[in-house]
Amino acid sequence: MATIDTYRQDDERQIAAMYRRVFGPDAAEGNRLRWEWQYSRNPNCPPDGPQIWVAREGPTIVGQYAAMPVRVSVLGREIDGSWGMDVMVAPERQRQGLGEVLFRTWERHVGAALGLGLSESSYRLFQKLRWPNVGPVPCFVKPLTRRALRRPDWPMPVNRFVSWATLPYVRVVARARPLKAGVERVSRFGEEYTALWERLAATFTFAVRRDARYLNWKFFEAPHVRYNAVALKRAGEVQGYAVYRHLQEARGRVTLLVDFLADPDDAAGVETLLGWVDREARAENSDKIRAFCLHGAFRRVMKHAGYFQVKSTMEFTAKINAVEVPASFYEDTSGWHVTLGDSDQDR
Ligand SMILES: CC(C)(COP(=O)(O)OP(=O)(O)OC[C@H]1O[C@@H](n2cnc3c(N)ncnc32)[C@H](O)[C@@H]1OP(=O)(O)O)[C@@H](O)C(=O)NCCC(=O)NCCS
Repeated sequence: MATIDTYRQDDERQIAAMYRRVFGPDAAEGNRLRWEWQYSRNPNCPPDGPQIWVAREGPTIVGQYAAMPVRVSVLGREIDGSWGMDVMVAPERQRQGLGEVLFRTWERHVGAALGLGLSESSYRLFQKLRWPNVGPVPCFVKPLTRRALRRPDWPMPVNRFVSWATLPYVRVVARARPLKAGVERVSRFGEEYTALWERLAATFTFAVRRDARYLNWKFFEAPHVRYNAVALKRAGEVQGYAVYRHLQEARGRVTLLVDFLADPDDAAGVETLLGWVDREARAENSDKIRAFCLHGAFRRVMKHAGYFQVKSTMEFTAKINAVEVPASFYEDTSGWHVTLGDSDQDR
């Protein structure tokens, strides 16, 4: 019978070995690179150490539940939340009930248990536990060049034909539009971003607290990726921000709009941020821009700005414990702000 307790420093080697067996050597290497930042340097890390539960059989570690603590605004109240991230059970111990015990241990200790970008096995387990399934988080793509609609699973002649047939449409969608407000590059998030969050928090029915400490940790201190950030400014006041990066994929170059914040009623402001990202993406020769976005008002602006919705694989589950929420809270997620920048999705 396994016992569950919290992580100790000398567990590191055994957990790293299990990680390699469950997720493979490349993922294990990525995990090693991120670990210190992801767990110990999180500004919400509890004083007694990272939020990690370990399943032990005698001296042997057979499972782990590692989570990212965040503050979450839920219906105008701020509570402790936790993104489940590196969850695993040793292959020879899977399908014997250990995962369920780990999931329940985590959930009992947190104000909001949150899972984003679930694997098939964890998605099924959340379903089995009957936790609210509020996903997937919609994925949006804005095409910028004729290569934008290529798919790695189509043969090249099909890709060429689709590129040719859609080119006139892509040209219209991708045309440059004037920016309606000021945009400035950001190299560090100052306290004005905490003030922005404080002003906007109550406009979302669900969102992770995006204050300066969180934003700097998440987007400027991460060891595995480099982000660009810009501020939306009017009359010297910060009224929003966007975080993005460019990368090469199998069938072309992509700009990821990783995270953003603005007043959902400020359509002109959000459009300005999107317009800036368009320019940057074009300057970097990106074929398309990709973003994940749950909030209804933001989604409308994106569609207006030439983004269209594609199939999303970013499943999302949330269970709020710290405050009472009505059943309708989980049914209507149009006031929830969740992006690719949440949890550890962009790795
Ligand atoms: C997810 C995981 C931690 C669950 O641990 P576990 O000990 O196997 O889970 P349990 O035995 O408590 O629960 C089993 C239930 O989980 C779901 N499940 C687990 N593995 C599954 C799989 N390979 N395919 C489909 N469903 C699966 C099923 O609902 C299953 O119920 P069933 O056995 O009655 O069909 C484990 O499968 C694992 O380590 N997976 C690989 C790593 C991973 O995907 N981590 C999650 C990252 S988001």
